[in-house]
Amino acid sequence: MIDVAAAVRRALDRVIDPEIRKPITELDMVGDVRADAGSVTVDLRLTIVGCPAATSIERDVREAALSVDGVEQVRVDVSVMTREQREALTERLRGGRSRAQQFGPDSLTRVIAVTSGKGGVGKSTLTANLAVALAERGLAVGLVDADVFGFSIPAILGIAGEKPTQVGDMILPPVAHGVKTISIGMFVDDASTAVAWRGPMLHRTIQQFLTDVFFGDLDVLLLDLPPGTGDVAISVGQLLPQAEVLVVTTPQQAAAEVAERSGVVARQTGQRVVGVVENMAGLTLPDGSVMELFGTGGGTEVARRLSAGQQEPVELLASVPLSTGLRSGGDAGAPVVLGAPEDPAARAIAALADRLAARGRGLAGRSLGLSPR
Ligand SMILES: Nc1ncnc2c1ncn2[C@@H]1O[C@H](COP(=O)(O)OP(=O)(O)OP(=O)(O)O)[C@@H](O)[C@H]1O
Ligand SMILES: [Mg+2]
Repeated sequence: MIDVAAAVRRALDRVIDPEIRKPITELDMVGDVRADAGSVTVDLRLTIVGCPAATSIERDVREAALSVDGVEQVRVDVSVMTREQREALTERLRGGRSRAQQFGPDSLTRVIAVTSGKGGVGKSTLTANLAVALAERGLAVGLVDADVFGFSIPAILGIAGEKPTQVGDMILPPVAHGVKTISIGMFVDDASTAVAWRGPMLHRTIQQFLTDVFFGDLDVLLLDLPPGTGDVAISVGQLLPQAEVLVVTTPQQAAAEVAERSGVVARQTGQRVVGVVENMAGLTLPDGSVMELFGTGGGTEVARRLSAGQQEPVELLASVPLSTGLRSGGDAGAPVVLGAPEDPAARAIAALADRLAARGRGLAGRSLGLSPR
């Protein structure tokens, strides 16, 4: 005789917790499974009270159980984990690593901080689209909105208003277009709230994002920094000395010196400049002429300046044109790399993603963990 309860348990391996992104059977969320003729009862233990994913998990459990031969009726008994069970779970998810080690020196995650000299050059828009493009290539991608005062990532990714879930002392980041994302905007009551903090508080916030937020094994972690060389840039440099820095600038030559400074400060904290991205480059008009609103050559100039005295030259990795699609996609929370991949700006960002994904960390003997799955 077939063991229906065992078959149901195996079927439940296919039910994935949408937030932790692992099978519920691996998360000890399945308690007793009992079968009585065609009628099955599954004890389901949720991680927290009011788990936002409860309905979808329950539905998936029901479906998986019903897919087993001979099962006609499914009852799901929902309860909540005890504190001990939850602690055991968070312990196991961290795989024996302490919180502080999530992006510590032994982590294989490639960390790229996106910085600029001036504000408004398109860092956040580019970072969000780059993250989505890397995730589309099969990489596990996390995104930290490190612009505490001027957070804009949740809106650009279309998850404004979404809150992280807390399991024990672990914060599970919302996932937007395949990107695990965290922003101070998810912790304030409404997006117009002003965050007015001094350096130490900023530092602690970034530190918490890097320790208490559970990203799981990431291939790439991107950080969207505020413009300039202020407290946050310095904190990120201290907390993540292994990070690489991507400098964003416009084609405007006059801005090159300011942009160069952001790269120089990153180097002072031990970070490596991975390259330069020029944004808001010439827009090709319907008559074929090119409108160069911000002039030309700024990206090349910043790359040239940052290469001075370096063993390896710093390259201009991409030139992203002005684009209504990129702008409106950001306003609508629908990244252009997904919504209109043929847009010239989307193509340039996709090519940037390819280049970064193919590139080594530049540290001898370090495994990249970057082979697209
Ligand atoms: N290539 C582009 N073409 C058209 N609009 C763009 C382009 N890049 C960015 N933008 C628009 O420019 C504005 C500023 O972009 P964004 O907020 O990404 O810049 P930022 O560098 O992150 O700014 P801040 O320094 O304030 O953080 C946004 O409205 C965005 O939609
Ligand atoms: Mg920004």
